[in-house]
Amino acid sequence: MEKEVMEIRISGVRHMCALILLLISACPLSCAGTWMWLGMTSAGALEKLSCANLPLSQRQRELCRKKPFLLPSIQDGARLAISECQNQFRHERWNCSTTNELSVFGHELTSGTKETAFIYAVMAAGLVHAVTRSCSQGNTTECGCDPKLRGGGGVAAEGWHWGGCSDHIQYGTWFSRKFIDNTVKNTSTTRGGYTLLAMNQHNTEAGRQAIDKTMSTDCRCHGVSGSCAVKTCWRTMAAFEHVGVYLKERYERSVQVLDRSKRKTRRKEQRHLPVDKHQLIFFNKSPNYCLEDRRRGVAGTRGRRCNRASPGPDGCNLLCCGRGYNTHVVRHVQRCECKFVWCCYVHCRRCESMNDMHTCK
Ligand SMILES: *[C@@H]1O[C@H](CO)[C@@H](O)[C@H](O)[C@H]1NC(C)=O
Ligand SMILES: *[C@@H]1O[C@H](CO)[C@@H](O)[C@H](O)[C@H]1NC(C)=O
Ligand SMILES: *[C@@H]1O[C@H](CO)[C@@H](O)[C@H](O)[C@H]1NC(C)=O
Repeated sequence: MEKEVMEIRISGVRHMCALILLLISACPLSCAGTWMWLGMTSAGALEKLSCANLPLSQRQRELCRKKPFLLPSIQDGARLAISECQNQFRHERWNCSTTNELSVFGHELTSGTKETAFIYAVMAAGLVHAVTRSCSQGNTTECGCDPKLRGGGGVAAEGWHWGGCSDHIQYGTWFSRKFIDNTVKNTSTTRGGYTLLAMNQHNTEAGRQAIDKTMSTDCRCHGVSGSCAVKTCWRTMAAFEHVGVYLKERYERSVQVLDRSKRKTRRKEQRHLPVDKHQLIFFNKSPNYCLEDRRRGVAGTRGRRCNRASPGPDGCNLLCCGRGYNTHVVRHVQRCECKFVWCCYVHCRRCESMNDMHTCK
């Protein structure tokens, strides 16, 4: 390891090296969620590191060693998921902000709230998506296109058949289970409640199901001058943004369940029945995320930009929690009234505009 550390230092990733060393010592067997941290690293940064030096659990490290070719996909999946989380929540009081620490999402990763549920779901979905994509692009010999939906099949009478490359999400789903669900405990709820581990696992699986649920069939026409005499069709995963929209809806309709570790505080409104595998579940009501609370890792909405005209969550009233907002005038300079001048210039004027920008008090 000494040698590897040297090489990293030489290549100028000093900061990262120090961080990794810290992580190895601070990451015992149980750091199941820390793989998400790979999504905070820049592309290419991992090439210099071996599986043993990443903040992974024992099982994940083993899997990484056996399938090193999937490491870029794991990283891609984590980055995809983190940026989609921030995209979906950009107008909300909780905006899916990340920290530079190993926990990535800080307190929200363990708070047992709807936000925790979304994080676990979107991260698992990102992993399935990225691994499946890499299979479809033929980047590994271990997986490929869906062999069942290939050549010949389909409904010939209706003028189409399966062709091209259908995304084979089974491999990605399998890998995501193997990689994330490293605690093979029984997550049954028959004892009248979930543990945080079981809650996370349920939402992780719901995230994988989201990839399946949002798949669609694409077709292409063949035939003389686009006559569409023959059609080939293939199953394809939705763009990850659509998966994000789908999961955000699931988040809005998530269901509160009983936390087994707090049985004494059982409340009527909490569900006792097992829930559907597509639903997101949570234990704890979320804070309102209005004011900064360092202890709970809440950033608060002070200084957030709001939209005065919007009735939605990004509206100044809701986002600023009724505290009011400051208005600044921002000068915008743009190129405008552009004209094409023969030959070959584009001639523009500089236009200035003054726009109001509102930020929460
Ligand atoms: C989220 O909001 C905080 C302010 O509360 C801001 O500092 C941060 O940049 C925002 N993060 C994202 C990802 O938009
Ligand atoms: C597949 O491999 C190509 C070439 O190495 C690379 O550019 C591409 O990003 C890879 N795709 C995935 C999804 O890993
Ligand atoms: C978990 O427990 C349930 C009910 O006791 C049982 O039906 C199921 O087979 C168990 N699953 C595993 C993986 O042990």
